[in-house]
Amino acid sequence: MSVVQRIKQVGGRAEDLVQRTLARVGLAQSESRIAADAQGYWAESGGEKWKANSHWRDASVFGENDLWSSIGKRHLDMFERGARMTGFDRSWGRVVEWGCGGGANAVHFAKHATEFVGVDVVADSLEECGRQVAAHGDTPYRPVLIEVADPERAVAEIGECDIFLCFYVFELIPTPEYGERLLRIVARLLAPGGLALIQVKYHDGDFWSRPRRRGYRTSVAGMTTYSISAFWELVTRCGLRPESVELVPENELDRRYAYFLISRP
Ligand SMILES: C[S@@+](CC[C@H](N)C(=O)[O-])C[C@H]1O[C@@H](n2cnc3c(N)ncnc32)[C@H](O)[C@@H]1O
Repeated sequence: MSVVQRIKQVGGRAEDLVQRTLARVGLAQSESRIAADAQGYWAESGGEKWKANSHWRDASVFGENDLWSSIGKRHLDMFERGARMTGFDRSWGRVVEWGCGGGANAVHFAKHATEFVGVDVVADSLEECGRQVAAHGDTPYRPVLIEVADPERAVAEIGECDIFLCFYVFELIPTPEYGERLLRIVARLLAPGGLALIQVKYHDGDFWSRPRRRGYRTSVAGMTTYSISAFWELVTRCGLRPESVELVPENELDRRYAYFLISRP
């Protein structure tokens, strides 16, 4: 690690300490304040770090490896294992990905769908996802642009779906309570018997991995975490059925991932 990288790492840790301490002493920011910061962050599209955070194919982090392609392939394999386990054998029909970014999952899932709906807060990413889907097949692709603060508004436009996917997004939503709003949207979107695969970052209760609740821009992918049991119970409270959870303690991108396979009774 270079000296500059080391200085940045120490600075990041100090910033994290300050933000987390402020939140712990009662100075957490409101969900609407964090949502506004998130909207501002994602709207500044195009920079190298932003592209990496949005999982665009041409971000340098994906330059000299096949990580971009393997992200979606692994998720497809995981979904297919879950479908077999739960006896989900209907045709895939409409597949929705919430926070589709640059299309790393879309290119693998769309091939099996009648229609692929990409939902995102950034128009440029919806376009990039559409370009990638078109380059990999001929499944119709429909982009749906949402605002961070008002995800519910998209429900009618999206329509009922058979499969709901969400990867590398719950970690960067404003708060855990916002995640409950998303799960209630899933319950409205999924057809009876439909299946969802949702990835969250889990915490085991320690100071550094709990929800941050402040300072969106300096820890985009470290904002929201859940304990595994709390997310399982939350899924149930939202009228959905958790079928299984698969843990990935570490991968090439980050740590502490839990994948919940969820059905709509
Ligand atoms: C890390 S990328 C993940 C992209 C893709 N899901 C993947 O696995 O490669 C996060 C994406 O979520 C989008 N996003 C951020 N906040 C969101 C929100 N509240 N609702 C939906 N999408 C959001 C970003 O614009 C970005 O495209």
